[in-house]
Amino acid sequence: MKLTTKLLAASAIVSASAAMATDLEVTHWWTSGGEAAAVAELAKAFDASGDHWIDGAIAGSGGVARPIMISRITGGDPMGATQFNHGQQALELVQAGLMQDLSEVADAGHWRDFINPINLLDACTVDGKVYCAPVNIHSPEWLWLNNHVYENLGLPVPQNWDEFVASAPQVRAAGIVPLALGDQPWQSSLAFGAMQVAIAGIDAWRAVNVDHNMDVAAGPEFAKVFQAAADARELAVGSNVGDWNLATNLVITGQAAGQIMGDWARGEFAVANQVAGVDYSCLPGLGNPDVWLSTGGDAFYFPKLNDADKTAAQMRLAALLVSPEVQVAFNLKKGSLPIRGDVDLSAADVCMQKGLSALAEGHMVPGGDMVWTPDTQTQVGDLMVEFWKSDMTAEDAQARWVAILQND
Ligand code: GAL
Repeated sequence: MKLTTKLLAASAIVSASAAMATDLEVTHWWTSGGEAAAVAELAKAFDASGDHWIDGAIAGSGGVARPIMISRITGGDPMGATQFNHGQQALELVQAGLMQDLSEVADAGHWRDFINPINLLDACTVDGKVYCAPVNIHSPEWLWLNNHVYENLGLPVPQNWDEFVASAPQVRAAGIVPLALGDQPWQSSLAFGAMQVAIAGIDAWRAVNVDHNMDVAAGPEFAKVFQAAADARELAVGSNVGDWNLATNLVITGQAAGQIMGDWARGEFAVANQVAGVDYSCLPGLGNPDVWLSTGGDAFYFPKLNDADKTAAQMRLAALLVSPEVQVAFNLKKGSLPIRGDVDLSAADVCMQKGLSALAEGHMVPGGDMVWTPDTQTQVGDLMVEFWKSDMTAEDAQARWVAILQND
C-alpha cells in the first residue's frame, strides 16, 4: 500500500474515532472528598469508552445545585447529563418535554431484568417511558460513631440510639460534641427522617409515609420521634458547621462522637483512611435491630439536545452508568449500594455489607424523595431548621408537621 494511501487510511481512522469521541458536560453536586473520588470513576469509565466527560460539579448540597440545573435546562442552556435524586425532582422537566427518552437503551439493555429494587426504574418511568439511569442506592438512616471517642472515655461504643443518648453526658463532659449536625434544612430533615424509621418503627413509618395516615402522624409513635428530635437538638449544640461532610469530619477527627447521615458519609471515612469496625462504627436504622432503610440515591437524566452526536453519546453514557463494572467501581467509592444484584462486591467493607443485608432481606422502603412532593419536602425542611434552631416544643413541632403533610 503506497504511503499516501496509508496516511489517508490512518487519518480516516483518527477522524472516525475523533468523531466518536463526543464531549458531554455532566452536572452533579458531588464535591466532598468521597463524592469526588466516586464521580471520578464515572468520568474515567466514560473517557475510557471513547467519549469525553466534561465535569460540571456544582458546590453545595442538592438544594443549591438542583435549581441551577433546572434553570439551565428550562433556560435553553442544557448540559449533556445531570444528577437528580430518585423520585419526582425532574418530573416537571419530563412533562415539559425537555428530557431525553431512554426507553430504547433501557429495552436493549434489559434494565428491567436486573435493576433492583425495581422501584428505582419505576421512579425513572413517566407514562411508560424511561427518563433516567439510576446509579446507586443511598439510605439516609445511619448513625456514624467514632470508636476511639468512646474507648478513650472507657465507654462501650453505643449499639443503638438510646445507648448513644445515654452516653452523651460523659461525651459532653469531655468537651466533645455528642452529635455533629450541619445547619442546612436537608440535614435536619434527614436526621428527623432517620428517627422516624428507627424510633416510630416500620409499621407506623409506612402508615404515614406510604399511606399518608395523618392519625398515626399525630399519634404516640411519632410523639416519641419528636421527643428524640428534641433530645438530638440538645446533643447537636456546638456543631457549628454547615456542609454535611464538615460534620462528618468532626466525627472523623474526634471533635464529635456521632452523626446521623446517609451512607455517603462512608466515602468520607474511606478517603480519611478510617477502617470500618475499627476506627468507626456504622449503625443502619440507628441500631434498631429490625433494620429498615429507605431507597434514596441518585440517577442521571439527559436533557434533549439538538445534536445527533451528543444524543448518541447520551445513550452510550446511560448504558455505561448501569453496567456491572461501573456499578462496582463507583459504588465502592461512593459508599452506596449498586442498582443491580449481579455484581461482585467482595471488596465491600462491614458497613456496606450491613446495607447489602438490608437490601437482600427486602428491608427497603421508598425514600422521602419518592413519596412526598418536592414542595412538601422543602416545607418539612424549613420546619426542621426552625425547630432545630429554637426551643419549639416537640408537641408543637409534631402539630405543624402534620399540618404540612396534610397539604401534600
Ligand atoms: C444526596 C445524594 C448523595 C450525596 C448527598 C450529599 O442527595 O443522593 O449522593 O451526595 O446528597 O451531597
